[in-house]
Order: sequence, then C-alpha cells, then structure tokens
Amino acid sequence: MNATAIILAAGEGTRMKSNHAKVSHAILGKPMICWVVDAALGAGCERVVVVVGSHADEVRGIIDATYAGSQAVVECVEQAERLGTAHAVRIALEATGIDAGPVVVLNGDLPLIQPETIGNFANTVAAGDVAATVLSFKPQDLQGYGRIVLDTDGSLLRIVEQKDCTPEEAAIDECNAGCYAFDGAQLKAHIGEVGCDNAQHEYYLPDMLGILREAGERVASYCCEDYRDGLGVNSRSQLAELTAVARDRINERLMAEGVTFIDPAQAWIGPDATVGRDTVIWPQTHLIGTCVVGEDCALGPNTRLTNVRVGDRCSVDETVGIDVVLENDITCGPRAYLRPGTHVLDGAHIGTHVEIKKSTIGKGSKVPHLSYIGDTTMGAGVNIGAGSITCNYDGVNKHPTTIGDDTFIGSDTMMVAPVNIGSHAVTGAGGTITQDVPDGALAVERTEQRIIEGYSERKRARK
Ligand code: UD1
Ligand code: CA
Repeated sequence: MNATAIILAAGEGTRMKSNHAKVSHAILGKPMICWVVDAALGAGCERVVVVVGSHADEVRGIIDATYAGSQAVVECVEQAERLGTAHAVRIALEATGIDAGPVVVLNGDLPLIQPETIGNFANTVAAGDVAATVLSFKPQDLQGYGRIVLDTDGSLLRIVEQKDCTPEEAAIDECNAGCYAFDGAQLKAHIGEVGCDNAQHEYYLPDMLGILREAGERVASYCCEDYRDGLGVNSRSQLAELTAVARDRINERLMAEGVTFIDPAQAWIGPDATVGRDTVIWPQTHLIGTCVVGEDCALGPNTRLTNVRVGDRCSVDETVGIDVVLENDITCGPRAYLRPGTHVLDGAHIGTHVEIKKSTIGKGSKVPHLSYIGDTTMGAGVNIGAGSITCNYDGVNKHPTTIGDDTFIGSDTMMVAPVNIGSHAVTGAGGTITQDVPDGALAVERTEQRIIEGYSERKRARK
C-alpha cells in the first residue's frame, strides 16, 4: 500500500495527570507512540509523519531513538498551537507537501490498532472506491468517543463528538476509533473547510467525513471486527486496561505458537519479543524490548529480561538481564543480575547472587555463588569459587581480567584488575591476586595460619 500515515501526538493528554507526553507512556515496555508507528509501518505505509506539540522534545526523542537507524521514513512535524485534530492534520499536510495518494490518519493514543485492520479499511481508499473511510468500533464504555451517525440508507452521514451530541446521538453505540483513510487530494482540498463552531471550539478532524459527503464524495465507515483495536488511552485506568488487553493478545498468540504459560495473566511479554516452542513461562516474567528466546527454555518466575537473546534449553530463574546474550543449555539464577555486554557461552552456569557485567563466560564455565564478574574474558571449563570478585575498578578507571580455560578460582578470590590468570591454573581460597598467574600454576596469597592453643579456656578464666 503506497500510503502516507499522519499520527496525531501533539495533544496535552490532560486526563493522564502526567509530566510526560501521553504517547510516551509505555505499554509492555514500548511507548504508545511506537505501537502506532509500527502498526502504520506494518500496514505498509511508506512514510510516517508524527505531529508533535505538547512535550514535543520528549516525543521527538523517542521517535529519533527508535527509528533513526531503521529503513522506515518516520519524521516529526510540530503543531505549535493545539487547535484540534483537523488543525494538526492541516499542519502535517502543509509541512510535508502531501497532496495525493492515500493518507492514513491515526490518533497517537490508539496503541492496539493492528496493521491488518489499517490495511483492510485503508484499501477502500487506495482502490479509489471512496474519498474517505473512518474506522468505527463498538466499545463497552462509550464515554468520550465521537458517535457515527448514519443516514436512513445506512451510509455514513457525519461524526458527532460526545460533547456536541443530542441525547439520541449519545445513545449511538458505534464510535469513531480515531483512525481514518483519506484520498490525499480530497483531504488537502477540503481540510480548510473544517470550522470550530462546537462545544470545545476546536477543529475536529471527524468533521471531514461530513464535509466530503456534502461535497458529493463517497465516504464510508468500516467497523472493527475486534472492538479492542479501537480503544484509546486518555487516562491511567485506560492505560492499565489496554496493557492487560495487549498482554492477553500477545500471550494468546504465543500459546498458539507452542509456548506454555503457567499463568498467562502474570507474564508480561512485549510486542517485539519472540519465544520458541515448548518454552515454559513462569509467573512474573517480563520480556521487554527485542528479546529473542529459543525453544525448550524455562523462564521465571520473577524474571525481567530487556533486549536479551536466550538460546535453546536454557533455564533462567529469578534473573534480571539487560542487553545480554545467553547461548544454549545455560542455567541461570535464582537471583542473578546480568548487565549489558554479558555473553554466556554454551552450557555455562550462573548461580545465585551473581552479578556479571561486560564479560564473556566461556563454554561450560561456572559462576555459582555470590560473585561479581566485570570486564572479564573467561575461557571454557572455568570454576569460580563462591564469593570471588573481579576488582575491576580502581576508583577512576575500569580494567580487564582474563581467565584461561579450565582454571579453578578458589573461593573468595579477589582478582585485582588488570590481571591475567592463565589456563589450568588454580588460585587458593581467600587470595588477593594482583599479579598475573602463569598457565598451570597455583597462586596462593595468604598469611600463614597461627594456632593458639587453650585460648578459649584462658578467656573464660579472665571473666
Ligand atoms: C478523538 C476524536 C473522537 C474519537 C476519539 C477516539 C476528535 C475531535 N475526536 O477524541 O471522535 O472517538 O478520538 O479515541 O478528533 N491531537 C493533536 N493536536 C490537537 C489535538 C489532539 O495532535 O490539537 C492528538 C492527541 O495528542 C491525540 C489525538 O490527537 O493523540 C486525539 O486527541 P484527543 O484529545 O485524545 O481526542 P479525543 O477526545 O479522544
Ligand atoms: Ca483520545
């Protein structure tokens, strides 16, 4: 579909009672505006224009950070004064020079709109059948939505905002979802005719449908199959409601693809995550951003992974991971914290109360208990004894540690970086290792143990 999308995101979002842009609020870890942009891109729109205004820098920042490196053309246009949704569209048309082809207009607070839905109804305009189509839906709660007024022959007559409704109009259960497709030439030709003689003294985009009809053009409404596609977010309670809907949709899809959920109401999987078949998701698992999880894994309970790749047959229990790669057959947790740049190779084990940052843990290596490993390159078959730490920071700079294959680090070893510990080496428990350890060597750093006989007895006698 060779269409342009205009996404309206300049509004104040007053009802959110927030210091941030309404569309910056996240649903399952992804800002609302990105859900809408991605739906437009998914429907095949080739260019996306986001109208920003209130908290413009914040919204622009999200758009830039998300789409800068991508193929998609996503740009922002500023609506300095917020005079209504039709005004926002007019600003976008003027700023971009769009004057032909199908134009899809989406409210920025419409995160659950699906690409197929946009495609289905926008095609009616792309095919030249009508000059405009509005997406309608039948919400359970009509509050705040514009009503779709039909003519006696069932064709779309106009859209009336709730605040301008007569009691009869207010009773209409078919509402405007805030999602439209226009013929670009007709939109440009008539947008200037929208007035603001209404309850809110705003230029209403929905008025365009009535205007085009009056001008002798064909207009239509297209009712959503799933009313949830049309739900908008104006308040925190709607944000929570839509988050639950999004969660259910994603978890349903994953279950259909062969993923087991112990309790699908208690797993929060973002829209851009993938999970392989036969993986089991335990309660309170969060997958945020672009997580890719393989097959036959067990995730959770109590696990939060952000931009993490997990291979096959991994078990990740009570773990927080951010920007991490876990290869295959890895066991991790409970209570592990994997920070950016952690790469765990096949068959490794990360145990309990372990923190790892910017380090490679070699094949089959084990960091089982109470350790901090930072800026470290570790070979295969290494065992890190309980309580061992890489002292990678001297208060000013970070320094690297290397540990060769099959080396045994005794419990409570402090590896003061920069330091290189060879392969097949051993460090004695409790050592503070400040010098490199050659391959195959034992490094012991420890004062000799003294035995003071009869100590307790003498102490008791003194009392
Ligand atoms: C709008 C529709 C209503 C529809 C509902 C669906 C209008 C007049 N009404 O109402 O028929 O049922 O959406 O959810 O369009 N915005 C701008 N610039 C502005 C004003 C708004 O960019 O000057 C943006 C907002 O940021 C928001 C979107 O347009 O993303 C819709 O505005 P909002 O105030 O939420 O409209 P509703 O009252 O929900
Ligand atoms: Ca709204």
